[in-house]
Amino acid sequence: MHNDSLIVQKLYIRPAFWFLAFLFIGSACQTANQKSINWGTYKSDSKSSSYSYLKQVNKLNVNQLELSWSFPFKDAVPGARTSRIQANPIIVSGVMYIPSGRNRIYAINASTGEQIWSFDPFDGAQGGGVSRGVTYWENGNDKRILFTAGSNLFALEALTGKLIPDFGKDGRVNLNVGMRGDPEKIVVAPTTPGIVYQDLYILGTAVSEFYGAEPGYQRAYNIRTGKLVWTFHTIPHPGEFGYDTWPKEAWRYAGGVNNWAGMSLDEKRGMVFLALGSPSYDFYGGDRKGQNLFGNSVLALDARTGKYIWHYQTIHHDLWDYDLPAPPNLVSVVHDGQRIDAVAQTSKIGFLYLLNRETGEPLFPIEERPVPASDVPGEEAWPTQPFPLKPKPYARQHISLDDLSNYSGESNDEIVKRFKSIRYEGLFTPPSMRGNVNLPGTSGGSSWGGGAFDQSTGIIYVRATNTPGVSLVKKMEPESDTGNLFSQGKALYTTYCQACHGADKKGDNDYPSLIGLQSRMNEEEVLGKIKVGVGKMPSFASIISGKEEAIISYLFERESKTTREINFMKEIARSESANQDADRFKLEVPVRYLDIQSNGKFRDSEGRYGIKPPWATLNAINLNTGEYAWTIPLGNYPHLQQKGEPETGSEGNTGPIVTAGGLLFIGANMGPADFRFRAYDKDSGKLLWDTSIPGTATSNASTYMSGKKQYIAVSVAGDAANPGGYVMVYALTDAK
Ligand code: HEC
Repeated sequence: MHNDSLIVQKLYIRPAFWFLAFLFIGSACQTANQKSINWGTYKSDSKSSSYSYLKQVNKLNVNQLELSWSFPFKDAVPGARTSRIQANPIIVSGVMYIPSGRNRIYAINASTGEQIWSFDPFDGAQGGGVSRGVTYWENGNDKRILFTAGSNLFALEALTGKLIPDFGKDGRVNLNVGMRGDPEKIVVAPTTPGIVYQDLYILGTAVSEFYGAEPGYQRAYNIRTGKLVWTFHTIPHPGEFGYDTWPKEAWRYAGGVNNWAGMSLDEKRGMVFLALGSPSYDFYGGDRKGQNLFGNSVLALDARTGKYIWHYQTIHHDLWDYDLPAPPNLVSVVHDGQRIDAVAQTSKIGFLYLLNRETGEPLFPIEERPVPASDVPGEEAWPTQPFPLKPKPYARQHISLDDLSNYSGESNDEIVKRFKSIRYEGLFTPPSMRGNVNLPGTSGGSSWGGGAFDQSTGIIYVRATNTPGVSLVKKMEPESDTGNLFSQGKALYTTYCQACHGADKKGDNDYPSLIGLQSRMNEEEVLGKIKVGVGKMPSFASIISGKEEAIISYLFERESKTTREINFMKEIARSESANQDADRFKLEVPVRYLDIQSNGKFRDSEGRYGIKPPWATLNAINLNTGEYAWTIPLGNYPHLQQKGEPETGSEGNTGPIVTAGGLLFIGANMGPADFRFRAYDKDSGKLLWDTSIPGTATSNASTYMSGKKQYIAVSVAGDAANPGGYVMVYALTDAK
């Protein structure tokens, strides 16, 4: 009413203004209405809420959900392994848009599952690569699908699937152009869709995580023309904020710090929020001493210009690959009686960081605490790390002897022994040449599935994975040095040790075999025995003094690198040569330490997790109070569930979605143990529905209205019958 009279007044004064305003209001209403029936954006909306206003499917009837249709992707390359489609399907006006495992794009009738069109960005070549989905944009009759495949950004007509010829070059933009390295040689391949702000398509990137990686520059393209509009250097250049948190020349050679997991956008404030990954190389930072901004930071930029607004760094000088793995949820909370717009960042480490949206200041206290130092030569682990005091971590962050798995007395003995032989000093134990354990570790906490936020209750829902990781750091000698050390060691052995331990190291009745020594003892223990002597073995302290590396190299069979190590080194050499700036900056002495078990898990000899369950949980956290509403085990490995014990929880990367119908939907599993898709009561965590699916649910779900029905869709991994995978869609049969 009030507005109407204003319109009349102003209309008299500035008709053109009000004509435009009227148009704007008209289109805004349409958008709001569409928004509540569509799932038009990755993770539902630009706030990354993973929330839907739909409630036709609700707590009372969810147990009657049935498969409405499924769409098998028939495009798998013969003989290729089964697809794992991470794409969150988007649905706009009754059409679903989704990439297959091979990253061909499909438009599918969202009520019937009939294909409308498909597009192959690889022109018949094998294709593939991870894609978490596509972006829809419209302006009047101009309706577009934007997506990346390999190193290209594409724009298609949403109605026909045809390339838009005046976007970039014939409908595509080469994303390798404008990075630091040689566009012909580097591979910059985003995995998560970008986000739209006005006429900009803002896009992150996925880059190598090795030495020589490309830096994760963040960019914005004009959505009509594909022209590059702005670039933000996530590894700051001289003169830019944060430059002094790296060695002086690092901007020319350091890589990573990329936004692979996507962004959120505050349209009103014109702010975009990035979740940034680790600097490369993930597990050794001797060549990147310092705090390494904006590594592992939530970063707020001006969406229009790409200018820095604020950042919050969650891990300093990361050595654990603790990337921020999902876009922050834009939330509004009540703290001390005041409503505050905030961002809630989930993490692999299991902390939830709640930050003021305008300033980046934490809303709950966060303490900088001292953490263990590194024992790898040349490494300087950062002396402190931030510990949020609230909410409590949603992932397990500590291992005691009691936590170690106990499948049987024997297996417990074995795992206790291993645990004691490697380095563990709690959270932030740095990678070590002795080996080290980490919980939650590289693949712990929550992953790209991120959190789902219900603004009506202030509750965020987050999954956690609790399976400890192991690292073992090894110095990569140049090939010639390795050979030298090994042959020096062999010569020593022949002179001083062979008499007792035998030419082939096999020993005999009186003398122990030294074969496979590296799996029984670490370097220190071996050197200790040789220096001090044991039983009938005299001390060799003076003989091996200064030659420790040589004797170890021989005893530990370090003559040549494993195939895996050779591949690592090739990959490093390739990316280093590709990705220098024009002057080809070179580190003077390239020191290369590698975690040769990267992404390894701490398991017993039968491959079972080294700690007791739960290995995964689903958590409901009230962001107003910082308290937990509930926590349940998520998923199950039935063969490992002990009698009378709760479900074990199973690893996974996906995240939940939450609906106004009071439901959470999530596919629980990454491994083959349970192929199920589930719905929980959002208020209690009670399981209300679950259904068997042909593979694991490999994406976050989506929900939408098409016609008069509410549907729930999820991507499912391929099986023997259809290696290409599926999108499976559920609805109530009697919904009219
Ligand atoms: C005089 C014989 C003799 C010579 C020479 C000798 N060792 Fe031994 N070594 C032994 C015996 C005996 C043991 C077992 C001691 C025990 O555990 O009581 C042993 C144990 C070891 C072990 C521990 C193995 C295990 O599984 O516990 C290592 C390692 C080892 N020797 C390395 C060496 C190296 C390297 C040299 C040469 C620099 C060397 N030894 C020379 C007799 C010898």
